[in-house]
Amino acid sequence: MVGWILKKILGSKNQRELKRLMPIVHRTNEFDEQFKSLSDEALRAKTAIWKEELAQIPELEDQWKRLDEILPEAFAVVKNAARRLKDRQDTFTVCDQPMKWDMVHFDVQLLGGIVLHRGRIAEMATGEGKTLVATLPLYLNALTGRGVHLVTVNDYLARRDAEWMGRLYDFLGLTVGCIQHDQEPDFRREQYAMDITYGTNSEFGFDYLRDNGMATTREQQVQRGYYYAIVDEVDSILIDEARTPLIISGPATISTHQYDKWKPLIEQLVRKQNMLCNRLASEALEKFEQGDVETGGRLMFKVKLGQPRNKQLLRMMEDPDKRRAVDKAELSFYQDTRKEELFALKEELFFTIDEKSNESDLSEQGRNFLNPDDPNAFVLPDLINEFTEIDLDPSLSQEEKDKRKAERQQHCDAQAERIHNISQLLRAYCLFEKDVQYVIEENKVVIVDEFTGRKMPGRRWSDGLHQAVEAKEGVQIDRETQTLATITIQNYFRLYQKLAGMTGTAETEAAEFHDIYKLDVNVIPTNRPVARKDHNDRIYKTRREKYSAVINEIRDCHTREQPVLVGTVSVEASELLSRMLKREKIPHNVLNAKFHMQEAEIVSRAGQPGTVTISTNMAGRGTDIKLGASVADRGGLFVIGTERHEARRIDRQLRGRCARQGDPGSSRFYVSFEDDLMRNFGAADRMTRIMERFGLEEGQELEHRWLNKSVETAQKRVEQRNYLIRKRTLDFDDVMNMQREVVYTYRNETIESEEPRALIYEVIDEAVPAKVQEYLAAERDEELNYTGFLNWVNTTFPLGLTKEKAQFETRSVDENAQFLIGKIKDAYERKSSHEEPSAVKSLERYIILNAIDRLWQEHLYAMDALREGVYLRGYAQKDPLIEYKTEAYDMFVELMANIKNEVLHNLFRSTSNLQAFENFLATLPQFLMREHAPTAPTANAPARGRQLQPVGAMAAVGGDGDGAGEMTLDLPIRRSMPKVGRNEPCPCGSGKKYKNCCGRVA
Ligand SMILES: Nc1ncnc2c1ncn2[C@@H]1O[C@H](COP(=O)(O)OP(=O)(O)OP(=O)(O)O)[C@@H](O)[C@H]1O
Ligand SMILES: [Mg+2]
Repeated sequence: MVGWILKKILGSKNQRELKRLMPIVHRTNEFDEQFKSLSDEALRAKTAIWKEELAQIPELEDQWKRLDEILPEAFAVVKNAARRLKDRQDTFTVCDQPMKWDMVHFDVQLLGGIVLHRGRIAEMATGEGKTLVATLPLYLNALTGRGVHLVTVNDYLARRDAEWMGRLYDFLGLTVGCIQHDQEPDFRREQYAMDITYGTNSEFGFDYLRDNGMATTREQQVQRGYYYAIVDEVDSILIDEARTPLIISGPATISTHQYDKWKPLIEQLVRKQNMLCNRLASEALEKFEQGDVETGGRLMFKVKLGQPRNKQLLRMMEDPDKRRAVDKAELSFYQDTRKEELFALKEELFFTIDEKSNESDLSEQGRNFLNPDDPNAFVLPDLINEFTEIDLDPSLSQEEKDKRKAERQQHCDAQAERIHNISQLLRAYCLFEKDVQYVIEENKVVIVDEFTGRKMPGRRWSDGLHQAVEAKEGVQIDRETQTLATITIQNYFRLYQKLAGMTGTAETEAAEFHDIYKLDVNVIPTNRPVARKDHNDRIYKTRREKYSAVINEIRDCHTREQPVLVGTVSVEASELLSRMLKREKIPHNVLNAKFHMQEAEIVSRAGQPGTVTISTNMAGRGTDIKLGASVADRGGLFVIGTERHEARRIDRQLRGRCARQGDPGSSRFYVSFEDDLMRNFGAADRMTRIMERFGLEEGQELEHRWLNKSVETAQKRVEQRNYLIRKRTLDFDDVMNMQREVVYTYRNETIESEEPRALIYEVIDEAVPAKVQEYLAAERDEELNYTGFLNWVNTTFPLGLTKEKAQFETRSVDENAQFLIGKIKDAYERKSSHEEPSAVKSLERYIILNAIDRLWQEHLYAMDALREGVYLRGYAQKDPLIEYKTEAYDMFVELMANIKNEVLHNLFRSTSNLQAFENFLATLPQFLMREHAPTAPTANAPARGRQLQPVGAMAAVGGDGDGAGEMTLDLPIRRSMPKVGRNEPCPCGSGKKYKNCCGRVA
């Protein structure tokens, strides 16, 4: 009832909104009528006029206002052009196939276009022509000249749509580009320079990361801003894909994992546990036979905790009595009063695995087995207590206290790493199945997207899980990779000033779109009434019965030549079904979203009489299924779902594949109690009761609309949970996102700056006073402070200061800072005066970029570790997110300080030209002599012991060490430019060969 009222209200809100837009549609059609009399040239000329006019408006906001005003006229221009193409039966090629233009925008498509222009999501059913809808707002917004993007789910669709719609843009005088996976940067840049650019979400995202995190000059960057994007299949991209972030990674410099070390033991442990669970399951069976249902249920619950995919368990769960007994046991154990009993129960196993939350835990027994000598090796020490004890110990000096704490911390980190490794291995063994969640290809573990069945080569599970699976499968354990740059899909799309989306299914996820992307959904009515018939679900006890019913249904359809599209939720299910069909000698096609282009072709023929097509839900999406001759009389396309998906949206998507544009068509889902959804989230208890009431026999099925509701309730529960997971990922990424923005802005400023020296001086102005403060304002022995400070100064800058010369004691802290800043800048001017000005500029940029990149990457690594670490703290009743935020902030402050210090540190150690450097050294005062090597200043202390080796040669500089007490600068020369061949172009960007430019030996 409530649902119905809500729908009524929401429904009418949507209707009200659309009604308000209708006058615009009418106005568009009036203009279209007027334009019919124009010549092609006159129509096309409008584009140029508007472009010119908008170019005069500097502010984006004002441009948008103007766009709103010209919208009806501009849309009419596009529609009018489409009609001209149709009237002429214009032919061209799309993806190497001949194509004829046969579309003129319908009113509902104009409506969709307005919604998209306003930065909203247009829900339009499959086959409503969203590809064409997008041309309207893309044309309009491209008039600003700022570049607009259309985002698709795969390269094939990007190319198809760019070439297909390109005909229209071309007619109107706009340029269109298309990004494909294998393009070179120069080519990409050209594509982005076009008025409109089509491409996939990951290509756009990776280009962003490369532009902002890796390019070192403006010329290397390819994108030109983020103004307006329309995301096609927006649910798939912003919701399904959003669960794995985009990561550019390189091999980590060190790898600490111990997966291969633990693998044999874990394998034994898992085997032991499986044996134990098998025994428990047999016992349970006995108890049931003896009529002791309660004990039986309790035993089965235990099996469920220890081996959720135990075969006997799954079989027993088919039996309503037994299923109820387990559910009852489970429910009772989760009552608060029985917490201890539950704990005891868990302790009887070696470990427990929670399928729902994907977590695993070792019990005492398990710990003993893994390390009989020291079971505590798998328990985190109580660090806080230990710290307090150390703090309270009067016999320890401050230094000793720090040392001990550091030791304890290190111990704790090692412990945490070990626990983590083992927990990931347990998950790999117990929850991840080959050919379901992943496949092995060329000796590599390739993730299979569980939502789409699509393989995702190159992507890796994070947190070491991928390595754990690699260890399990005995394939090469790839080195822990280090993140070089990363962004979540969510945060990439939040970069756009205006974002819009279109899909056949957005309504069920409207809340998420609103909360995360501030995107509202408008449901656009179909052009013609929908004639699809959705049948009730058929529910079976076992998967086996379900599949044989599906096969029967397919055979029936096949005999009467009605085409069938069979949707599956995984590659494994597709293949199973295909094997069964082969045995029945029913010809069919299988699509796994592997080869987009071929699959699109197959899908487009799925409406021909008698065709059977099996497809995971992502395969062939976006391709139109036209009905073959006389298929309409046979009821149109029949869609069979072989399992209810976790998300209702995906089921709707599948259903929507038939009955497009008012065609006939029907759909039905087949469900069994063994399906994951039903096992984990189904109202199993209720279902079991219903089954009993109906006295369900082997092979029999249930069908009632109430049951559809039960399934939907389960789906809603999963949707909610998945939303929370995504939100959590985002909460964590938001922290990173802010940091990334600061760093990328700084980076871009450096790249774009015409006077990078100003940036260098900024660093000096900020970092030197901080250092002076650190040393001279400290409440310690003054003498000591001055010596320490002098050490730092003389190891960082070639100033050759001595106590006598510096006379620090005669000045205040601030004055000392100013004094030093003056000296450093002076020396720097002198150093660079020996170098070629443009080379110096490149070098200055390089010094800053180098510091940012190196330390930022280290920071990303540390942030990964932090993120892993804070989860463990969840056990200590602390909110991991808050912990993460606080520590991440501290780390970031430190990062920024370190970047500045590194810039200072490298300022006089880098040169664009060795000869110039030597010239400079020759002019240095004679007192540059060697002292006992002062210890390196903290400025450059590597985070977590990961330091890159300085590149290039170490040059001993200065006179021979004669005379104690004199100071010298021990400057290792770092070749700051990457090593270049003498005949290669000079990295300074002069265009000359290196040997004739900076590499010239004077
Ligand atoms: N205004 C129109 N007049 C005639 N045919 C049209 C019109 N608009 C779209 N079509 C046709 O409808 C079919 C489906 O178009 P399209 O693939 O753009 O749909 P879609 O909404 O993107 O569907 P999907 O959800 O499958 O991606 C195409 O064959 C297209 O030519
Ligand atoms: Mg489409």
